[in-house]
Amino acid sequence: MQIIAIPTNKGGVLKTSITTNLAGALSLNKKVLIIDTDNQGNVLVSLGNNPDSVEQTLYNVLVDDLDPPEY
Ligand SMILES: Nc1ncnc2c1ncn2[C@@H]1O[C@H](COP(=O)(O)OP(=O)(O)OP(=O)(O)O)[C@@H](O)[C@H]1O
Ligand SMILES: [Mg+2]
Repeated sequence: MQIIAIPTNKGGVLKTSITTNLAGALSLNKKVLIIDTDNQGNVLVSLGNNPDSVEQTLYNVLVDDLDPPEY
């Protein structure tokens, strides 16, 4: 497994766009898991999901020990 992190504090520099496009390209022949630690949840929306459908967040996985949901 390879881990690719795309972190920077600066806003609006294409973190989310790079993440979703890179994941899309890699998913052509690899299994890809995106972990979005940005509490704006922009990856979820970028991939066509409704933010109102979110019942739990990364907080619940890390703190409440719940299994990650699939979207
Ligand atoms: N190819 C492109 N050409 C021009 N603008 C683009 C392109 N791709 C993305 N953008 C725009 O650039 C802006 C910043 O992109 P993005 O949301 O990926 O950055 P970010 O670093 O994740 O931002 P934030 O800090 O708000 O999370 C967005 O408004 C997006 O629509
Ligand atoms: Mg972003």
